Amino acid sequence: MPVVNYRLDGNVAVIEIDHPPVNATSIEVREGIAVALKDAAADPVVEALVIAGSRGIFIAGADIKEISSGISNKFPTLRDLQAQMEAVPKPIVAAITGTALGGGFEIALTCHWRIAAADAKVGLPEVKLGILPGAGGTQRFTRLAGPEAALEAITSGNPIPAKRALELGLIDAIADDALADAVVLARTAAADRRPLRLASEVDDKIAAVDTAIFGAFRKKLASKARGQLAPWKIIDCIEAACTRTREEAFNFEREAFNECRESPQRKALIHLFFAEREAKKVPDLPADTRPLPIRSAAIVGAGTMGGGIAMNFANAGIPVQLLELSQEALDRGLGLIQKNYAASVKRGSLTEAGMERALSLIQGVTDYDAINGADIAIEAVFEDMKVKKDVFTRLDAVCAPHAILATNTSSLDVDAIAAVTQRPQSVIGTHFFSPANVMKLLENVRSKHSSPQTIATAMSLGKLLNKVVVLAGNCDGFIGNRMLQFYSGEAEFLLEEGATPEQIDRVMEGFGFAMGPLAVRDLAGNDVGYSIRKARKIPADERFSPILQRVFEAGRLGQKSGKGFYRYDGRTRISDPEIMTLIEGVSRDLGIARREIPDEEILVRLLCPLVNEGAKIVDEGIAIRASDIDIVYVNGYGFPSYKGGPMFWAQDFGFDKVIATMQKLGATHGRRWRPAPLLERLAASGKGWS
Ligand code: CAA
Repeated sequence: MPVVNYRLDGNVAVIEIDHPPVNATSIEVREGIAVALKDAAADPVVEALVIAGSRGIFIAGADIKEISSGISNKFPTLRDLQAQMEAVPKPIVAAITGTALGGGFEIALTCHWRIAAADAKVGLPEVKLGILPGAGGTQRFTRLAGPEAALEAITSGNPIPAKRALELGLIDAIADDALADAVVLARTAAADRRPLRLASEVDDKIAAVDTAIFGAFRKKLASKARGQLAPWKIIDCIEAACTRTREEAFNFEREAFNECRESPQRKALIHLFFAEREAKKVPDLPADTRPLPIRSAAIVGAGTMGGGIAMNFANAGIPVQLLELSQEALDRGLGLIQKNYAASVKRGSLTEAGMERALSLIQGVTDYDAINGADIAIEAVFEDMKVKKDVFTRLDAVCAPHAILATNTSSLDVDAIAAVTQRPQSVIGTHFFSPANVMKLLENVRSKHSSPQTIATAMSLGKLLNKVVVLAGNCDGFIGNRMLQFYSGEAEFLLEEGATPEQIDRVMEGFGFAMGPLAVRDLAGNDVGYSIRKARKIPADERFSPILQRVFEAGRLGQKSGKGFYRYDGRTRISDPEIMTLIEGVSRDLGIARREIPDEEILVRLLCPLVNEGAKIVDEGIAIRASDIDIVYVNGYGFPSYKGGPMFWAQDFGFDKVIATMQKLGATHGRRWRPAPLLERLAASGKGWS
């Protein structure tokens, strides 16, 4: 089957990319376009060209698999095609439907004009893959839309709706039928002998740029893009577009692209791109499983978590009821939701009308009977098995027979919760992360009774609620929190041995974590951390460090009490000699001689236990695949995306080195810390995760 169709519409050649699923410009597509361009240029009947995509999508970019394999460098490259397009002495118009992203948008930008459907989106998302638009994207975008717009759009990589793209000058018109209008425009431009407009030659928006904007933007991005390569290179390229000759600037972009493509960050981020898509797939579900349509939802519990979950449904346009038995608690919950939306309006990320629309979809109720029409009920009450069981008994009694009953527990036994209902097949865990209206991760937890339709429905919430979704099996802490106890537990062992909270957090933040483990403890609350710790059963030959308990007992609850592992001025951490007295006291009581701990040891001793427990989770089938764990850690626990997640990191670091670290830790910490058998098998076989 040809991947590029060529037909004549009178005197207009229509070149249509037809390469499922997303018309990516793989080598066959590039070859097809090159042949079509050559034919159209040579045919005297053809007076103009239109480039379009089939199945409602223009081109979603380069074929990402080819970037990893190097095939994107094979002739004809995107740049070869662009040179060919710019040499055709006939008008070329892009008809943009669906998405024109990355290399796809770079092709559109090389056309003389662009017409888009009203619901189309354009953009340069390369930064999310650790690269930059290397086929003139940073240059043509900047020339058409100006450097300020380019800086925002290309360093974020976010898609731009057609209406905004028109305002920015990136497209020339919006049409009901983009293809039909593109053909008319192409024909008219040829008939009128309109001068061909090359974006690479437009220069009015780069003519007199105040170069101070680049320094200011670098400052603005400093903390967000800390540790990354591509965003900084993108700024350099946009600056080059405004300060260097055209040829120099295009060459500069090419070199910057090559540097990003060779970086480990590119490998890590492309790993995550495919991992995120794999994570949605549940191999043991029958192929004909259909998710239950979710037309309405009910959330039990109007606390921070319940309110955040309700906002997710409202944002997706789904009516949602928020149940709280006391009117006072309900009012408090609804007030918090209102405050959150108002803050988004103030920040400019939501319109007033958008806020009103979302709020109108949230209905507060104080009676279980009121939620009997919901397709899904999600419990988000206090993390206590007895309380959860009571809620599920009541939900089972009132909810419609088809309704799915979900628990937002972060570690409790989903089988035991399901067992109190008459419909265990319809019960599942949907573990949202706090704040649920912000965090991208949804960790679903199947019980041993969850039916294929229940699982498929929970997985479909990913698309519905714009979440990154992963399926876990049922065990204490599921994927994320089960692993975390080894990470945060090790941080305390390091404190006992001689590290300080500042050193540990500095090392992990230097690695790229949004926050170090002790700063996270203070944020989550040391009372909460200690109550989870107390509930954990550990084998007799193991211990937890007493530090957390002593911190809790000293009333150092974290940010909320103004002191924890740090003292706080608002949210600003301040070193506190008192905490060091407490930690040194623990070392003394345990007879541990404190020592200087090198930063590298801290990093390895915190990451290896994560990986080790992750390997056990894969071996037990709790995670379907190792890459699902990377998705959980990057989207739920602040692991730096450009390091690819803990399992990806481990493969690069070396399984043998992880094993060696765990052998040492196992000897002092106990049996659960010993090397995971899967790691030993992989190290022996020389294989990767799969
Ligand atoms: N290359 C290869 N495969 C791609 C792809 C791409 N650019 N974009 C999507 N796919 C694949 C996905 O892996 C997925 O495959 P499976 O079904 O086998 O898992 C399939 O297409 C569907 O993708 P989604 O599940 O993401 O579908 P969606 O409808 O939710 O989203 C989309 C569609 C908006 C196009 C989204 O896939 C997307 O954002 N794709 C990436 C776009 C991108 O980053 N483009 C830039 C590429 S780099 C570049 O272009 C620079 C250069 O020149 C070198």
